Amino acid sequence: MIEALYTKKQIELQQRARALAEQVMRPVAAKHDVEQSFPWEVQAAIRDAGLYGVWIPEQYGGMGGGVLDLCLVVEEFSRACGGMGVAYAVNALGSFPILVGGTDEQKQRWLPRVASGEAMISFGLSEKAAGTDAGSMITRAEKVGNRYLINGEKKWNTGGSVASLNTIFAVTAPGRGARGISGFVVEKGSPGYRVGKHEDKMGIRCVPVVELHLENCEVPPENLLGGAEGHGFKHAMQTLDRARPGVAAQAVGLAQGALDLAMQYTHERQQFGQTIDSFQGVQWMLADMATQIEAARQLVHHAARTIDSGHKQISKLSAMCKLMATDTAMKVTTDCVQLFGGYGFCKDFPIEKYMRDAKITQIYEGTNQVQRLVIARSLLREAASSGGGGEATS
Ligand code: CAA
Repeated sequence: MIEALYTKKQIELQQRARALAEQVMRPVAAKHDVEQSFPWEVQAAIRDAGLYGVWIPEQYGGMGGGVLDLCLVVEEFSRACGGMGVAYAVNALGSFPILVGGTDEQKQRWLPRVASGEAMISFGLSEKAAGTDAGSMITRAEKVGNRYLINGEKKWNTGGSVASLNTIFAVTAPGRGARGISGFVVEKGSPGYRVGKHEDKMGIRCVPVVELHLENCEVPPENLLGGAEGHGFKHAMQTLDRARPGVAAQAVGLAQGALDLAMQYTHERQQFGQTIDSFQGVQWMLADMATQIEAARQLVHHAARTIDSGHKQISKLSAMCKLMATDTAMKVTTDCVQLFGGYGFCKDFPIEKYMRDAKITQIYEGTNQVQRLVIARSLLREAASSGGGGEATS
């Protein structure tokens, strides 16, 4: 980290996150991966360290940081364990809809609970038949008397079974497309709210990814985000614009963590009478990986700073950093496994977990194909607009 580029508060935050990751996360990462169990002791340590409030404004009980602060923490956590990185970051994904679309009363009601770590929060957008095409969701919310009744199923809900709050998107006006979708905060324990199937996953195994079943799920109208119907899709997209750098930071952390292990291993492993890091072929691989990671990290931080600056057009940079950092993570973690040779393919060494954890970063919060779509649409819009005002890139 070039210290002059970050505030004193950000440097301290990063150091705190690194210490917690090394002391609390790394020692239990393999155990929770094997058992596919949620690390409650890690959750308690993050809560006690006050780190759930990083991205939440001070007036709602948070630390008043922004997306860059979030990314610094997520990278450090993911360097030790990618699953624990996303278990933390998903609380930002779940609470951003409240931040971007909630009324002040709603922010006062829920954000302090998230900031203190009392309540974890997840994000319910996708459905079995509505993944990339999020706007084609069929979960329905109908106003019946003095409450909404929500019916449908949500898929790929990261953290859903351990969260007390869930931001759920549902159709309130069928036939109106994206403008007929609304966002709700649904509390665990609401009548008709049930956690379904737990996915058995290749990576990020310590964080539950579940289906949610909503069967005449009763939600008070005060939980309709923003107090008005029809803004849910926009709020979901604005949320993803702010949350995708978090996935990108997770990817940078995974790549850096894998490279750390590869540096150590290649310095110890001897072949032909010398450590393998003395071979130029290995050195070039290490150099390429370090360069790719640093380039990805800087794009993530640039996107995060741009979002924190209040710039209105952030979709392109957000998608670019997610695309680049997660493709980098997949390449770097695969190359690190290669450097470990046969040992890299076996579970005796932690390196294969980095490769497994990295894969999902190219898929969730929008596949990297969707990121390319978002980037291309922005480019075409910029080209079509004669008067400038394009999206931020530099
Ligand atoms: N900000 C604000 N508004 C936006 C927007 C943005 N970034 N993007 C789109 N909108 C608005 C549009 O302006 C439009 O509004 P109007 O109707 O008022 O004109 C409306 O939303 C519809 O926009 P589009 O026509 O562009 O929408 P689309 O149906 O073509 O979809 C898409 C665009 C980019 C493909 C979008 O559906 C998308 O991002 N899909 C991927 C979804 C995704 O990332 N899912 C992951 C969920 S989270 C997860 O992975 C699980 C987890 O728990 C981690």
